[in-house]
Amino acid sequence: MQELVLPRPDDWHVHLRDGAALRSVMPSSARMGRLIVMPNLVPPVTSIDDALAYRERIQAAMPEGSTAEPLLTAYLTDRTDPEELRRGYAQGVWVAAKLYPAKATTNSDAGVTDVSRILPALRVMAEIGMPLLVHGEVTRSEVDVFDREATFLREVLGPLLDELTDLRCVVEHATTRAAVDFVAARGPRVGATITPHHLWWNRNALFDGGLRPHAYCLPVLKREEDRRALREAATSGDASFFAGTDSAPHAISAKEKDCGCAGVFNAPTAVAGYAAVFDEEGALHRLRGFLSEHGAAFYGLAPRADTVRIVRRPWVAPETIPLEGGGSVRVFLGGTPLPFSVE
Ligand code: NCD
Ligand code: ZN
Repeated sequence: MQELVLPRPDDWHVHLRDGAALRSVMPSSARMGRLIVMPNLVPPVTSIDDALAYRERIQAAMPEGSTAEPLLTAYLTDRTDPEELRRGYAQGVWVAAKLYPAKATTNSDAGVTDVSRILPALRVMAEIGMPLLVHGEVTRSEVDVFDREATFLREVLGPLLDELTDLRCVVEHATTRAAVDFVAARGPRVGATITPHHLWWNRNALFDGGLRPHAYCLPVLKREEDRRALREAATSGDASFFAGTDSAPHAISAKEKDCGCAGVFNAPTAVAGYAAVFDEEGALHRLRGFLSEHGAAFYGLAPRADTVRIVRRPWVAPETIPLEGGGSVRVFLGGTPLPFSVE
């Protein structure tokens, strides 16, 4: 296959940041269709007013002519007011709510300390059909960091979904075979996003010839068998699995240091990176579902009416992009020859 024309791909999980960083990275996501925008700002997006103001800042940062559609999310805390969720959802201010277990990842300090605290909110979400987006990791120090996703699914999310049988849910940035099996077994009300980097790399990438901070993200990269399971799920045609880049920019200076930040900035190369994976798996005919159809269907939307062309023509992305005000961000697969260009 030399060329593929798809409805404009969507990104069902992206960090656009705020302020100067937002202005610097927004152009990289502006050629996608719908963007599910994560709410882990400082302070987090917890109210309707926060979300409306953030959406305006995003729109102001969008390059001329961009047709990307930012879809906002609410950040759940122990004090989330279920009626604020209901109002914001009814008014189209946000389309989902994000559960960050407290201290699980970047800017999750205000997250949920125990899901029992948000049961009233989750009941309202189940009632109105508002999806729960989950950062699925336990945070207890005695649980090995590589086991935190599987443990969360077994101990927290499984029982929760058994109790709230109408709750719709996305296991964000799935990283393990356990997550793939969990989602596949639960049918259409449970989906999963899969990132380009978890399809490209296993945990060896963290230690490839030395310590590699630019391969550090959360949930952390897992074993080769997990990467295989993610590739099988993404290319299976199962509509529960869809693209969410988890593009998470941090300045190089914030990553290359003691206690460096978690996150991979992949927005510039995500579509070409996914295409290369599907090509390697002999599944380019299923790229359309994964990039342009499955996620939209989960959120009750039609695929985008406009299209992009993915052409088999070698392309090399820049290694970094500059940040307004100084510094730069490393680009996932920047400097690596990729077999596809996106037009
Ligand atoms: C994300 C970030 O930096 O905001 N980091 C990451 O490693 N993925 C947060 C998240 O999605 O966990
Ligand atoms: Zn994320």
